[in-house]
Amino acid sequence: MPHPDRWGWADAERLIDNETRVARDMKKSSKSARLNIDGKEFDLPVFSPTCGPDVLDIRSLYGDADVFTYDPGFTATAACNSTITFIDGNDGILLHRGYPIDQLAEKSHFLEVSYLLLYGELPSAEQLEDFEGRVTLHTMLHEQMVNFFRGFRRDAHPMAIMVGVVGAMSAFYHDSTDVTDPWQREVASIRLVAKMPTIAAWAFKYHIGQPFVYPRNDLDYASNFLRMCFSVPAEEYEVNPIFSRAMDRILTLHADHEQNASTSTVRLASSSGANPFACIAAGIACLWGPAHGGANQACLEMLREIGSVDRIPEFIDRAKDKDDPFRLMGFGHRVYKSFDPRARVMKQSADEVLGLLGIEDNPTLQVAMELEKLALEDPYFKDRRLYPNVDFYSGIILDALGFPTSMFTPIFALARTVGWISQWKEMIADPQMKIGRPRQLYVGHGMRDYVDVESR
Ligand code: SDX
Repeated sequence: MPHPDRWGWADAERLIDNETRVARDMKKSSKSARLNIDGKEFDLPVFSPTCGPDVLDIRSLYGDADVFTYDPGFTATAACNSTITFIDGNDGILLHRGYPIDQLAEKSHFLEVSYLLLYGELPSAEQLEDFEGRVTLHTMLHEQMVNFFRGFRRDAHPMAIMVGVVGAMSAFYHDSTDVTDPWQREVASIRLVAKMPTIAAWAFKYHIGQPFVYPRNDLDYASNFLRMCFSVPAEEYEVNPIFSRAMDRILTLHADHEQNASTSTVRLASSSGANPFACIAAGIACLWGPAHGGANQACLEMLREIGSVDRIPEFIDRAKDKDDPFRLMGFGHRVYKSFDPRARVMKQSADEVLGLLGIEDNPTLQVAMELEKLALEDPYFKDRRLYPNVDFYSGIILDALGFPTSMFTPIFALARTVGWISQWKEMIADPQMKIGRPRQLYVGHGMRDYVDVESR
C-alpha cells in the first residue's frame, strides 16, 4: 500500500476524508403526490433535484400498499441520487459536476475531467500535478499479468481480453480490494484509471501479434496510450500532436454519462460489496453490447457497408422496416430526444482531424453526413426524435487515427472507467447505500404439486 508522502498522495488523504463526509441531502419538493388504490389513499414524498424532473419516493409503497411499481428498462426510474453528471435529453445538455461537456471538451483535458468526476471540483495546478503524478506512477501492470494475455487466442476480440484481464486484477492487487476502507478505494481508483490504457493497448497488440509496449512516464495520458498501441521496437515513434489531442478529446467525451446501462451494472455489482476490479469488469461486459458501447464499432461497419451516398435510402428503409432487425447504429438514445451534445463536438473534431490529415473527402464521413441529413428529414426518425448519438462520428475519428473497429469499444471502456469509478465511489460512500434487489411482476404458474414422471 503506497504511503501518502512517498507516492505523492498528499492530496489523497484530504480528498478521501472529504468524500466519506459527504452525505447528500435530498430537498423536499413543494409538490405533493397522492396515490389512490381501491379508495385507499397513499401520500408519496416528492423530492426536487438541482435540475431535471422531481422524483416520487416510492420506498414505502410496497410496505404501505402491498404493490410494486413496474418499469422494465428503468425508463422512468431514478435508481439513486447523484452529484456527478446531469443530462437534459430534451435540450441536449450534459454537465459534469455542473460544467457543460462542450466547454470541458474545448478547454480541459481527460485527466483534469477525471479529477473533476472523482473529487467533485476542478483541481488547482498543484492538485492536478499531484493527481497526474499518482496516475503516471501506476500505469504499469504486474508483470505476471502478461500470462493472462497469452492465454487468449490471437483472434480474441480485445473486449473479451479486457473483461478477463480487468477481472483478473482482483487476483493481483489484494491491497486495494477492501471496499470498506476509503484508502483502498482510492488506491483501486487510481490503479484502474492508470492501468486501463495499458490493458487496452496490450489487448490490441496481442490481437495483432505485435510485442507489448510499456508505458512511459514522460508522456501525457493520451500520447502514452497511442504510443503503446502504435509504436514497434523496430523504430522510433513520435506521437502526432493532432492525434493525441483528438484522442484526449474522445476520452473526455466518453468519460461519464449518468446512470447508463454499464454504469448501472457497476453500481448493482458494487452494491453487494464486490471488489472494484470485478465490478468494473462487469461494466466492461455490459458496455460491449451493440445497443450500448458496441455501437461505435457497429456504426462504422454499417457506414462502410452502405459504402456510398446512393445506397443510403436502402438502409434507411431497412431501419424503418419492423420486420427487419436492422437499426441505424449510432442513432437514437434512451435519454437524448434531441442532439447528443457529444455527437456535435465529435462531428467538429472529425472535420478538424480529417481536414488536418488532408482526408476531408473521406467517403465514410461523406456517407455519415448525408445519412444524418436524410434521416433527420425523414418523418420516421423525426417523429421518434432519433438523432445521432456519441457513437455516430467517433468511429470516423478512431479510424483516421489508425484503430481497427475492434478497438473502438475498448477505447470507450478505457474512457468510461473513470465514470464508473466515480459513480462507484459515490455509491459506496453514501450512508443510504444498500444492496440492489429489484422485484418483478410474476406471470408464471401459480403453485402446483409435483407430478411423478410415470404420470406425465
Ligand atoms: C450509448 O444510456 C446512455 O447514456 C448510453 C451512452 C453512454 O454514454 O453511456 O450514451 C452510450 O449506448 C449510445 C447508444 C448507442 N446505441 C446505438 O447507437 C444503437 C442504435 N440505437 C438503438 O438501439 C436505440 O436507439 C437505443 C438502444 C440507443 C435506445 O433504445 P430505446 O430508448 O429503448 O428506444 P426504443 O428501442 O424503445 O426505440 C423507440 C422507437 C422504436 O420504434 P417503435 O417501436 O416506436 O416503432 O425508435 C425506434 C425503435 O424501433 N428506434 C430506431 C433506432 N433507435 C430506436 N429505429 C431505427 N434505428 C435506430 N437506431
